[in-house]
Amino acid sequence: MIARFNLKPMDYLGAPESKQTFNRSLFAEVAPKYDFITQALSFGRDGAWKRHLLKSLPELEAPQCLDLACGTGDITRMLAKRYPAGKASGLDLTPAMLAIAEKQTGNAAITYIEGSMAELPCKTASLDIVTGGYALRNAPDLNQAIDEIARVLRPGGQAAFLDFSKPVNRTGQRISHFLLKFWGGFWGLLLHGNPDVYGYIADSLKLYPDRAVLRKRFEDRGFQLCSSRKFFGGLLQVVRFEKG
Ligand SMILES: C[S@@+](CC[C@H](N)C(=O)[O-])C[C@H]1O[C@@H](n2cnc3c(N)ncnc32)[C@H](O)[C@@H]1O
Repeated sequence: MIARFNLKPMDYLGAPESKQTFNRSLFAEVAPKYDFITQALSFGRDGAWKRHLLKSLPELEAPQCLDLACGTGDITRMLAKRYPAGKASGLDLTPAMLAIAEKQTGNAAITYIEGSMAELPCKTASLDIVTGGYALRNAPDLNQAIDEIARVLRPGGQAAFLDFSKPVNRTGQRISHFLLKFWGGFWGLLLHGNPDVYGYIADSLKLYPDRAVLRKRFEDRGFQLCSSRKFFGGLLQVVRFEKG
């Protein structure tokens, strides 16, 4: 198994094309263990954080929803349950993740799409809600992904994300990098014989903007921050923006 994943994260995460190639290879390796590792890495808290994300969204009659980097589709399914008269789609780069999502979904109202956050296969101003769990940090080019989210949302549309979050101060950044490198490395070694498989989380966060810069990137594209909540001392965050 592990022979297929011999990529060193930092060699690939710095440029959009190589990052996308790296992610496709990484998540093809991780897919069969993804649901288990998400529980293990989060000490079983992942579901609660995702429920918080869903709860932070407003009451809407029949919204058109897109879940970015949907993986095995848990947030997509939560959207379909929360808005039974709406439409939920999940988009992901990795066929192996989507295959598991499809297997776990008995709801014909949900559509899964193979594609990239870099170029959303949606009409301009056609969506009411865009979500993402551990999504934006994996975008090949973050600014391009936020531009795309701004393009596909209607005015008043909601964008809500759960992800690891980078503190603004250097000491906080060093501590969170160390914790993630250690915890991800441990599970990577245990499940795949390779610490880089989940150690990549720390590396991708290193190259990601801190919380204040991330907020500004959304605000620069006409979004307004509506709510934000930190978990695990700020190692993770759920944020919701509204498009002006
Ligand atoms: C950490 S998983 C998150 C899965 C799920 N959203 C969750 O909350 O558990 C990251 C997902 O991002 C996907 N991904 C990576 N790069 C992507 C891209 N450029 N466009 C769309 N999905 C991408 C991967 O295939 C993977 O399924």
